[in-house]
Amino acid sequence: MNNRVIGHTLAMLITSLNASAQATEMPQEKITAATCAGCHGANGIGISGEFPNLAGQKQAYLLKQLKAFKSGARKDPTMSTMAATLSEKDMQDLAAHFSNLPPTPATIHNNTATGKALKAQFPAPTYISMKKSGTLMLFPDTATWPGGPNMLYDAVTPDGRMVMATSPSTGTLYIFDARNGKQLAIIKVGKAPKGVKVSPDGKTAYVSNQGSSDISIIDLQKLTVTGSITSKEGPHNVRFTRDGKRAYVTLQGGAGIGVIDTRRTEMVRVIPVPGITGPHNLDLSADEKTAYVRDFVHNVAVLDLESGKVSKVIPVGNGHGGIDVTPDGRFAATAAIGDKIVSLIDTKTLSVTNVEVGKGPHGIRASKDSRWLYVTLTGENAIAIVDLKTMKLVNKIPSGKFPFWVAVPGNP
Ligand code: HEC
Repeated sequence: MNNRVIGHTLAMLITSLNASAQATEMPQEKITAATCAGCHGANGIGISGEFPNLAGQKQAYLLKQLKAFKSGARKDPTMSTMAATLSEKDMQDLAAHFSNLPPTPATIHNNTATGKALKAQFPAPTYISMKKSGTLMLFPDTATWPGGPNMLYDAVTPDGRMVMATSPSTGTLYIFDARNGKQLAIIKVGKAPKGVKVSPDGKTAYVSNQGSSDISIIDLQKLTVTGSITSKEGPHNVRFTRDGKRAYVTLQGGAGIGVIDTRRTEMVRVIPVPGITGPHNLDLSADEKTAYVRDFVHNVAVLDLESGKVSKVIPVGNGHGGIDVTPDGRFAATAAIGDKIVSLIDTKTLSVTNVEVGKGPHGIRASKDSRWLYVTLTGENAIAIVDLKTMKLVNKIPSGKFPFWVAVPGNP
């Protein structure tokens, strides 16, 4: 709905409200849910971003809000006028009516009530890169910050103070102040930088330059490149160990997983990963003995890092995608850009539960408390949220264009 249409709808409604207010001598006509449908939808789902969903809200909450609008305790130009005409009985009936409608989780709007839901689902500030908009989006406050061309992978420092994103077409890394989105630096790295990760001590970032087959080392205090690590073909993304002594890197050229000694800043070993095509992203089990390696086509290899043996290759959704071991170690969750599903691999049994989330899922990260799973839907310009307790899709939030990666503090 554009502003003109809203204005028009409002004008019509206000005219009819004035008409009914003037006719005070007449017995007041009962106001039904149809009056609300123009903005809150016939099914209680707001017709556009300005209008909150009422469906499935708690009855007591709805009643309280209506009373607050009527008394003036809560103010909104539209709703205050609207509520002025409602009798106590109308308010009770309307609150009952809307609370009984199913809360279709199709869209969520940034307003008071759903804003609360959003806060519960994003317990920490979470940064999502938008490849085609060239922006970063911050949740639960839905702020959008301009970045550079095709903001691809992003990462946040452990103290939550800096956030950064790679720009493959310009061969740079953008660094932002995580509190306000101010650009602190644009740093030249290698060719076609893809993944970026921050060391656990927060001092260093590794940028995997897939095009020049090296890894740029960034000093996050000086905001400059201090070195580079030669890699086998096609480094895509790294994962540091908790002690920061090693970083494992996916070699999408096909060689397997590179092991970097971070003190020597050298790739000291390459572990081949037979049975998969082009290692794309990886994460480690809670004890860091196993790597879950997501390939470019549709597989996850379960790799024992000590013996270098693949114990299982698990087919997942089509196309490449991210992979995240939830901080509690329970799931290795992976997305699939050519598909509509995410696959939740139970790390104990290696059984798979597929959850349909929407078109083109790629970026995937759990909240630090392992309760929520955030998934970027590149084909829908939306973020899907899966409740990991129930393994169900519980929310979809509209985003910028081609949301790509998710940076969650505490879950690198
Ligand atoms: C012309 C558009 C419009 C109409 C018609 C309308 N509303 Fe609203 N309503 C809004 C807007 C806009 C808000 C958000 C106000 C705010 O941001 O505080 C809102 C908020 C509310 C809220 C608070 C929701 C929350 O999550 O806190 C309730 C409850 C509500 N409306 C009920 C109704 C009922 C019941 C009707 C029908 C009698 C109705 N509204 C008709 C525009 C409308």
